Amino acid sequence: MPKTLKEVYAPYFTVGAAVSAWWLDEAAEVVKANFDTVTCENEMKYLSIHPHGYQPPENVNRFNRGEDEYRPEITDRESLIHPTLVVDTSGADKIANFARENGLKIRGHNLAWHASYPWGVFEQLSPSELRSNLDEHFKLMAEKYGDCYCWDVVNEALNDRLDGGDLRDNVFHKKLGDDYLFELHGLARKYFPNSELCLNDYSEFRPDKRDRIIRTAMALKERGLVDVIGLQCHTNIGILRHGFGEVRRSLDMYAKTGLKLHVTEMDVCCIEWKKDPKPATPEMTAQVAEVYERFFEIFKEYSEFIENITLWGVSNKHSWLNHMGPKECHGTNKPLLFDDNYQATESLERLLQMV
Ligand code: GLA
Repeated sequence: MPKTLKEVYAPYFTVGAAVSAWWLDEAAEVVKANFDTVTCENEMKYLSIHPHGYQPPENVNRFNRGEDEYRPEITDRESLIHPTLVVDTSGADKIANFARENGLKIRGHNLAWHASYPWGVFEQLSPSELRSNLDEHFKLMAEKYGDCYCWDVVNEALNDRLDGGDLRDNVFHKKLGDDYLFELHGLARKYFPNSELCLNDYSEFRPDKRDRIIRTAMALKERGLVDVIGLQCHTNIGILRHGFGEVRRSLDMYAKTGLKLHVTEMDVCCIEWKKDPKPATPEMTAQVAEVYERFFEIFKEYSEFIENITLWGVSNKHSWLNHMGPKECHGTNKPLLFDDNYQATESLERLLQMV
């Protein structure tokens, strides 16, 4: 039998995949054979666990929650202050139980994220009401999923605008102040004493963002509140043109923090976001395989510091890039390691052959 992904990379790091409850059954065998860890794609996010309602208005950027002025009337304040009054853990339970039954470790994703809470609602809570919400939510997640070996605490906490401070001005920052990240990592430490705590963000190889991530991670580290830096690694074929210099430079700098590194959400889009909108061609998808190979060569060099590499999905057909990503290549993007029939893609073949 040829070796599978997790077997091939076992000397270097563990490998994982994000999975969704609605397609887990059909992917189960491939996941068990190829991966050591799983992440819930959406099922552990606040809005999945507490389905309060409060849909976003049309024509707003779903990822910039809170930056618009939409403020729905709150009709169930009590269940926002006490989020355990509205709970649905069926999706997260399905994935967690699958992992437990099959000896896979779980990366907890995530305890707080500016893009996953009821639209326009946390903005209307007082700081103490929001604190009560977060405390109760973290506590529930610890009761249910305290066995996750690592948790992304505040997802994407860093500011990615050129101006402003290091922290994103999300609703938690606005309401709880400049020390909110210390506060929420402290809360996570209290409720998850056996889990690694991770600072997970994107654009991690862009110099200005990288510097912000490192400054923030070091401030958390001084207080004993972080163990892992999470590098999302949503990348695209444009990196073949730009080169991998910043990737290496960044990994050198991240390694020097003394924190563990996780690659948390890797996929390779076959176009450059916003620059090059067109359907994917075979030439472009061949470049995807090359990007994987170049990245994994570098990851192997830094394997002393890298604990886990997680892919953001299993089969191309379910990748968010074929549904929510750039419209022009919906259905033709091949950002992952398995095709629509769960057969190895060229990218996976290359990764298996290079070790
Ligand atoms: C972000 C989040 C993930 C996922 C991806 C892609 O990176 O951290 O949970 O939503 O976007 O959709």
